[in-house]
Amino acid sequence: STIDWDVVGAEIGDHAHYLVKEIEEQPRTVERTLRGRLDERFQTAHLGGLNLSIREAREFRRVKILGCGSAAYAGELGAQLIEDLARMPATAESASEFRYRNPVVEPDTLYVAVSQSGETVDTLAAVQELQRKGGRVIGVVNVVGSTIARQCDGGIYIHAGPEMSVAATKSFTSTVVAFALLALHLGRIRDLSPTEGRRIIAGLAALPGQIAEIVEQEKRTGWIAETAAELAQRHSVLFIGRRRGCPVAREGAQKFKEVSYVHAEAYASAELKHGPLALVNPELPTVAVVPDDDLLDKNTSTLAEIRARRGPVVAVAHRELPTDLADRTIVIPRNEPELDSILLSVPLQLLAYHAAVALERDVDRPRNLAKSVTVE
Ligand code: G6P
Repeated sequence: STIDWDVVGAEIGDHAHYLVKEIEEQPRTVERTLRGRLDERFQTAHLGGLNLSIREAREFRRVKILGCGSAAYAGELGAQLIEDLARMPATAESASEFRYRNPVVEPDTLYVAVSQSGETVDTLAAVQELQRKGGRVIGVVNVVGSTIARQCDGGIYIHAGPEMSVAATKSFTSTVVAFALLALHLGRIRDLSPTEGRRIIAGLAALPGQIAEIVEQEKRTGWIAETAAELAQRHSVLFIGRRRGCPVAREGAQKFKEVSYVHAEAYASAELKHGPLALVNPELPTVAVVPDDDLLDKNTSTLAEIRARRGPVVAVAHRELPTDLADRTIVIPRNEPELDSILLSVPLQLLAYHAAVALERDVDRPRNLAKSVTVE
């Protein structure tokens, strides 16, 4: 409806920047991505635009996801969701790397192109190369009727509304939600049980309210803004995470560097000891993604390694960590483990935003970057 479009539309309203407006409207944009797609009767997701019969969808044995920038990071989370829920091998990679290397295209692989704008030239070229070799490509796209959306053989519109700030935020979370729907659909036509389907549906339905809690909590406490102002004084910030936390860390570092111009780098937590631990000292803060899941012990022992080298730590977690492990914890609500990544991403968006504000950067138009890259 018209009213609905306005809420997530291109008007900045009372907000100082589009970036924060788009972060704060994520309860509504995620809701839009979900709308009409959850099937409580069969515990699955309806995705009318996929253009795949159940038989065709069952014949795919693998999924390959392609995109650039934040779209590629969202795709990494999408790959893990598909592997978790549909038990199909799934990987994500940069569309530009894919297109330049004469890729092997397989008939039993479902290809997924991810693009907010639907105009990114490298992603479009990857789609065309895939189709030239007979690959079946679906799109996960925001802009309706965009070039990539039209080029693909079917797809999922994320319906996040116009995204004005160069840095992707609401399109990132809605893309991950779209992948959760795809994973649920692919899972339920295979071996994902109705009980598991019900668990994921309940988790998805809880997301908008939980994102609103994160936003409201920050408005009350200013805790993330205060943390960001401290990080903004450093030369560099390390972001770490494990499994689903790893793409979250990558996207968090990307957001942080692109809007604040402070160097930020992401690593898989287990890779720390293979290099970056050499840099850890009181001058280099680490932002750690630490969900309260079956890997909590592994994550806390990584934090202990950082603390042994007197590295400052900011944790994003489901409960306050002891101060010997983290100087500051940003506590967020818990969802299902497969969906926690969506919530864990939100405080990292706010960290990047507030760091940019503290440094008086051009928040919505970072230097040297464009909203959609239509040149090679
Ligand atoms: C540019 C933007 C990023 C975006 C990427 C991919 O680099 O600055 O925010 O993630 O392009 O854009 P797309 O529209 O294809 O998602």
